[in-house]
Amino acid sequence: MVRKGLPGLSAQIKDKLIQQALERRLRQAEQGRHLQLPASAAKEADSTPEQHWRFDLHPGYQQLRIITEGAARLEIDSPFFMLHEGIAGACTRIAGREYVNFASYNYLGLSGHPEVSEAAKQAIDRFGTSVSASRLVAGERLVHRELEQAIASAYGAQDAVTFVSGHATNVTTIGYLFGARDLIVHDELVHNSVLQGIGLAGARRLSFPHNDWASLESLLAEQRTHFQRVLIVLEGIYSMDGDYPELPRFIDIKRKYRAFLMIDEAHSFGVMGNSGLGIREHFGVDSSDVDIWMGTLSKALAGCGGYIAGESALVEHLRYLAPGFLYSVGMPPPVAAASLAALRCLQREPQRVRTLQERGQLFLALASAAGIDTGTSAGLAVIPAITGGSVRAARLAAALFARGINVQPIVYPGVPEKAARLRFFVSCEHSEEQIRETVSALAEEMRRL
Ligand SMILES: Cc1ncc(COP(=O)(O)O)c(C=O)c1O
Repeated sequence: MVRKGLPGLSAQIKDKLIQQALERRLRQAEQGRHLQLPASAAKEADSTPEQHWRFDLHPGYQQLRIITEGAARLEIDSPFFMLHEGIAGACTRIAGREYVNFASYNYLGLSGHPEVSEAAKQAIDRFGTSVSASRLVAGERLVHRELEQAIASAYGAQDAVTFVSGHATNVTTIGYLFGARDLIVHDELVHNSVLQGIGLAGARRLSFPHNDWASLESLLAEQRTHFQRVLIVLEGIYSMDGDYPELPRFIDIKRKYRAFLMIDEAHSFGVMGNSGLGIREHFGVDSSDVDIWMGTLSKALAGCGGYIAGESALVEHLRYLAPGFLYSVGMPPPVAAASLAALRCLQREPQRVRTLQERGQLFLALASAAGIDTGTSAGLAVIPAITGGSVRAARLAAALFARGINVQPIVYPGVPEKAARLRFFVSCEHSEEQIRETVSALAEEMRRL
């Protein structure tokens, strides 16, 4: 491969130099120092700087351009917005070629399952494609209630409510329930939707080191008395690292400090526990030990949207007053019907969950044996292969893609540069052979690059 402009240097050193230059430019752009401002900006007669009224000079867009230009200089094809031509499960078709797919959340193979698709089709025939109103007004349909009752019963909770987006579920729930006199403490690796919700709430935000319940305890010992309500937010399985918190420890702490505990089960419901009922089943805790059970319908449940399960006072409150529910249209019937059918399928066929767990364990064991750094992953559906650099992650993903394996690189600034990685999402429909071939191809390419 020819890399221009840096003659006489080895490919790795060139990669490193280009990457360091990129990081420098990204840091500068982050600090709001706009690079390569057109000459016209200096000559502005008007005192309003051009970057304040032009989208092409927006700092976020500038950062994006630095990344895409950097990738072009490194001659790396973009791994983003790949066009999948059919159902994306354990396999997928891209540009006419079949790939073993590790880039989709279809953990239980239920998106594309005939029973789930049929339920969606029947819901369209009965209710149409949209409920055409907020649920509170004229958008309520039987399928919403059936889905929410099924979710509540899966959690052993008093009630549940669904929202049209998983991300919006966190934003509106946290943003609505908490305010300026409250404290929200979260694991440092918690999802963006939680951070957005805290921003909207205007609450004081503090984070604690990943999975470190002892640090949380010291933090609350110092801070609890300064605030009215306190919310602790964790994830069931962390989406970048594939590990999970020692839930009983966090429950003890939340009781001691009279705080609310919220668990985002986006990646743990359908994945953890003997029958897939999530982190609650895994640790055998009571439903009421956690105040706010949150989850998404877009992963194991083959749909789109999110839910909150918990006590009636919480769910009824959100149903009447959470802005992202009240001022937003109800979930489309085919989506609600698909997730309901997926949940029934999961409950009827728990072997899907066990196979998923076995495949994840196999992946993890083979990767460890091959010396691949999988961080703290528990081998439950999400397994990173830490590459130690963004360029290496992008090159590895491209090399695997050329070998018929689709996996997403997670690069800086999505994660710290040293933590750049390939992230493998495992499905119960991956065969043992596919997992063995993938890990062996990964190990080979890691040695080569
Ligand atoms: C932990 C977590 N919470 C919330 C979300 C948002 O869910 P959705 O993509 O369904 O909007 C995600 C998305 O991947 C997630 O990983």
